[in-house]
Amino acid sequence: MTGLRSGSALDRRTLLRTGVAASVGVPVAGALGSTAEAPPPAGALPMPAPRDALPLRAHVEDPKRLLLDHGWRFHLGDIPMPEIRGHGWSYNAAKAGQAQGAAAMQYDDSDWPEIDLPHDWAAAMPFDETANVSQGYRRRGFGWYRRALRLDPADRGAFLELQFGGIATNATIWFNGSVVAHNWSGYTSVYVDITDLARYGDDLNSIVVRVDAQTMEGWWYEGAGLYRHVWLARRDAVHIATDGIHADPRRAPDGSWTVPVTVTLGNISKAAATATVEATLRDPDGRTVGTARVPATIDPLKTKSATLSIAVPAPRLWSIDTPTLYSVQTRLLRDGRVADERTLRIGFRTLRFDAATGFHLNDRPVKIKGTCNHQDHAGVGVAVPDALWDWRLRRLKALGCNAIRFAHAAIATEVLDACDRLGFLVMSENRNFNTSPDYMKQLEWLVRRDRNRPSVFMWSVFNEEPMQGTPAGYEMVRRMSAVVKALDDSRPVTAAMNGGMFAPVNVSQAVDVVGFNYQRDQYDRFHAANPTLPLTSSEDTSAFMTRGAWKTDGASHVMSSYDDEPADWGSTHRDGWKSIAERPFVAGAFVWTGFDYHGEPSPFEWPSASSYFGIMDLCGFPKMAFYLHRAQWIDDVPLLDLMPHWNWPGREGQPVRVVALTNVESVRLTLNGRPVGERTVDRYTMPVWSVPYAPGRLEAIGYRGGREVARSVVETTGAPVALRLTPDRRTMAADGEDVQPFTIDAVDARGRHVPTSNLDVSFAVTGGKIIGLGNGDPVSHEPEQGNRRRLFNGLAQVIVRADGGDARALTLRADATGLRAARSTVRLLATPPLPFVPVTPATQMIPDWRQSPASAAKPSPDIVLADNDMNSWLFVRAGEIQPAQGTGTWSVLRARLTPHRPVQAKGGRIRFRDVVGRGEVWIDGRRLATKTGFAPETITVPLPAGQGERVVTLLLESDGRVPSGLGGIVFVEQ
Ligand code: GAL
Repeated sequence: MTGLRSGSALDRRTLLRTGVAASVGVPVAGALGSTAEAPPPAGALPMPAPRDALPLRAHVEDPKRLLLDHGWRFHLGDIPMPEIRGHGWSYNAAKAGQAQGAAAMQYDDSDWPEIDLPHDWAAAMPFDETANVSQGYRRRGFGWYRRALRLDPADRGAFLELQFGGIATNATIWFNGSVVAHNWSGYTSVYVDITDLARYGDDLNSIVVRVDAQTMEGWWYEGAGLYRHVWLARRDAVHIATDGIHADPRRAPDGSWTVPVTVTLGNISKAAATATVEATLRDPDGRTVGTARVPATIDPLKTKSATLSIAVPAPRLWSIDTPTLYSVQTRLLRDGRVADERTLRIGFRTLRFDAATGFHLNDRPVKIKGTCNHQDHAGVGVAVPDALWDWRLRRLKALGCNAIRFAHAAIATEVLDACDRLGFLVMSENRNFNTSPDYMKQLEWLVRRDRNRPSVFMWSVFNEEPMQGTPAGYEMVRRMSAVVKALDDSRPVTAAMNGGMFAPVNVSQAVDVVGFNYQRDQYDRFHAANPTLPLTSSEDTSAFMTRGAWKTDGASHVMSSYDDEPADWGSTHRDGWKSIAERPFVAGAFVWTGFDYHGEPSPFEWPSASSYFGIMDLCGFPKMAFYLHRAQWIDDVPLLDLMPHWNWPGREGQPVRVVALTNVESVRLTLNGRPVGERTVDRYTMPVWSVPYAPGRLEAIGYRGGREVARSVVETTGAPVALRLTPDRRTMAADGEDVQPFTIDAVDARGRHVPTSNLDVSFAVTGGKIIGLGNGDPVSHEPEQGNRRRLFNGLAQVIVRADGGDARALTLRADATGLRAARSTVRLLATPPLPFVPVTPATQMIPDWRQSPASAAKPSPDIVLADNDMNSWLFVRAGEIQPAQGTGTWSVLRARLTPHRPVQAKGGRIRFRDVVGRGEVWIDGRRLATKTGFAPETITVPLPAGQGERVVTLLLESDGRVPSGLGGIVFVEQ
């Protein structure tokens, strides 16, 4: 496998080994080198070589973070909070740590299934006609997640933070029974400082997340649940804040560069702390370019910024073709050791938008060849593993796409790692157009998180807002732009307008670059009226295609792939690109969309459930638009692809429209060796012939300067006889994270891809797990999870996660009735997993006790504490002995619990660790244990089966010197 190392130039030839025709690939000798391998199916496009390390490890190397993706328990549906009654319960429920219902620390989740993240529960929901079309006819609803967490006693005093990458959609998070965060966007991260509430050692912590995915922020499929990574950061008390490094290179007017590094430090210790902040810049080969150090003093519970600067006379530049990444390692040094550390990948590049000549990267004009993309994929919904994102982005790279607009919200940070590494320009988009403080915080978070990235080249504050042509809209954007610029003055602010740009006061007056969604007819008029305002398409095209279909059939919800079907508000792919390419003042295109997505199945509704807009389908299989744009967007490598396929039985003699998608100068077409005609290529419209159908071999030869440079063949195939499985990679990492899609197709007796096959296929895997399936058919209602999928127009996709640990091979098998089965084996490479938080078995703890005042005489176990008496007895926690109030050596400890279901059914035990003092343990009026010595001892008592609440009472006598009590945790064993 050829690795694509950060900083290495993308090898165009690796990227574009051509010869992939619709049905049969024919390598062209001389042009691009030939390959002896069997031609890949139409779905398996040549792409940049896969990553050689997990994308997760790219941007921020943070040795103090652990992955917290495993061991979550999940409940589908809401769990109403209990109706609280009575003074005692009301009083207690109002206190810190005393969340009720499913948020309670001790809630019984023993029958909730255990799941791993990323998790999108909506992806497993059936298609339902009564659900919202915009969300892909999937019910989203509510869900709960719970996880027990054990913390190392060595972490006492450390700064502990939970980091949720993204939760769809509204989330409430509890830690140890206290609400610690509300998050009102499915696209923002949530960072939760849990330090003050944390429990260590054998004591358990509880993380609970209630997710309201009923709430919508968009009109596309948004998924549901904890669909991005969760991390636990464990840092020194004196540490670098999350997203606390700003290191974005700047070029001085004399051409020299500096990397200004601003580091935000925190200190949760009780005293002011001094530290040294050190930043080291390394080049792509790991050689140190420069180091800077600065001392800092941070007051307790305060933050402080330290500023450094590293000069770099002549760095290697980052660009879309050569995405050279340097690294900045920031270390916090205290008392001769590294207290905290982060390594960021950065890139040196300049950006400039010119009102007349468009976008310039590193002072060279670059036409933006962008695609808009939502964040879901076939089979997995929005829970797209990092490796699958890497694959998707390499698909876009193979298309010649150089820019991405992640519509219409912040994308996962790991995706941006891959964009930095692969060389994409990213329009980073804010979701909610709202200037109130909560929402401005979302915008600030976005800028703070992404402002070091070479890929991010614009901030978009909104998409198509009705207020765009009003003074209110203008004022809002002015404020949002100011918020962005206070954090990042190097990238322009834009907004995607679909109207209002000619209103007397409008948003175009408040942005640096005006974004047009559609409005092709207004490009010239707007430019004439605003000759100094840079302009880009922020969204264009919106044309419908069904992959592999060549005739529109409204009744069956099929759209032809010839590029004849624009949306009313859009244009064909050909027209959209032409109007942008011909206007130097329009910085570029953002085609709606690169990939199909669940939801928004315009121009249809039920039974269609996913979109028709994609250049690729929901699986990333190319539609005709892929070959069209590829031939328009890539110049240096000759490309030629013939469409459609050549299997038209019953249409003999009838004309078939044949298109060549090519960037050569002229194309000669033959059918079964007989000339059909030669065309000079217009790259906007592309050569088209009407060819009377005869089965056989249709062949196109492309010429530049009169010399053959490319060739493409489509052939009539025989009936399918065998299945074929094609992985993207022959090796995978056995780290429990790595994922890849396999393409499944059917071949005829001569091994040729059969483009019309719609067979039902079943799959079985060893050494891995199938996490999703798809075939790109927007009308399909097959489940996207399981082990079956029909081919759709010849193709389907199976997404497989490799096992970690000792697994050394993954084998996928595909079976279809009447066909030879296919088997594909990939090697699993021993790879250490990312450092992760081990799964903690859920245990019912009994942490909260009431303790009576001391008495001289042994009290009765039946002693009553009135429900409204909150003051006579102490509130104590197991493991933290408090001396009883009053005089005397005896006191009572009492707790109430409802055993979890397995114990209710079968009975169990209560274990009291390190009980100090002598006395008795009573449950529900029965004495179950007697302790005769004063010294700490562990007591175990039986807990009989049965439902309902139990009352546990300890009568304890101290020796008069050491207070008696619960010196350790108390918990229920099954
Ligand atoms: C735009 C919108 C996109 C998508 C698209 C479909 O108006 O910004 O999110 O809905 O239309 O053509």
